[in-house]
Amino acid sequence: MKNFISVEDAGNINQLVQKAIAYKANPLKDKSLGTNKRIGLLFLNPSMRTRLSTQIAAQNLGMEAIVFNVGQDGWMLEFEDEAIMSGSTVEHVKDAAPILGRYFDILGIRTFPSLKNKADDYSELYIKQFIKYAGIPIVSLESATLHPLQSLTDIITITETFKEKRKPKIVLTWAPHVKALPQCVANSFSEWINAWGEADFTITHPEDYELDEAFTKGADILHNQDEALKNADFVYVKNWSTYADYGRIYCNDPKWMLSNKKLQLTNNAKVMHCLPVRRNVELSDEILDGPNSVVTQQATNRVWAAQAVLSELLQDKK
Ligand code: CP
Repeated sequence: MKNFISVEDAGNINQLVQKAIAYKANPLKDKSLGTNKRIGLLFLNPSMRTRLSTQIAAQNLGMEAIVFNVGQDGWMLEFEDEAIMSGSTVEHVKDAAPILGRYFDILGIRTFPSLKNKADDYSELYIKQFIKYAGIPIVSLESATLHPLQSLTDIITITETFKEKRKPKIVLTWAPHVKALPQCVANSFSEWINAWGEADFTITHPEDYELDEAFTKGADILHNQDEALKNADFVYVKNWSTYADYGRIYCNDPKWMLSNKKLQLTNNAKVMHCLPVRRNVELSDEILDGPNSVVTQQATNRVWAAQAVLSELLQDKK
């Protein structure tokens, strides 16, 4: 593994999942792999789970982890090549990234999309510029369009939870929210489940909330949530803003919020969410506090997903 930006970097997904599950059983089994190695974790946007789980994962491998809140503490970075920097940006990524490449052995970066310009966001310029100029492995801690560490975590959670000898039915359902949110988690979950190929996959959302087909191709897409939920083994709940007419909120119908009544349509489905979640807007108390929620298990698995990825990057760097 050279970088970890999307499912294309994962190689064999099941092998990576099994590696993570082995770390869950024995977190310190490779405690010397990262001795004298250092990871920098750059946050241009807020985080709780990604920041802490990646730090713990690095420590379990014997690495030092240094967090830098670029958005809060750093100079405002410019990413466009040939920019005339007479505006608010102070330092070009072309100057900053090579320095970070000398301070660290691996670099993790979190950057959210603007949700203003689809072409800019979907070009993934920020991550691509770090790959181009840092000269060390780059790990996405969530980018403008994808959240691969979350998606690996999600497949780990499904694998360890589902024990029947058939494919699970997995439903990704849109949910209401008060803010326009990125499509990253939904895009990424879709591309990972499609690439994994070990589930029957349905996506349900109101009309006009279609995601980029590049990620969803192969899934059944329904606008009738009740129909989609029938016999589901897993329901992944997530809001996203519109993709076609980019970054908007068209519908906030509370009927799209999952309830225990809707859950009766499923095969006693486990309910997933990446967190943070707006309670009683995106997902109800009765679901989050009920027996079908696996959100805490999912967030705990972030450590093992990160550890499996860092381990691959360290091994391939040797
Ligand atoms: N799920 C997730 O990425 O959580 P954080 O934003 O807290 O890192």
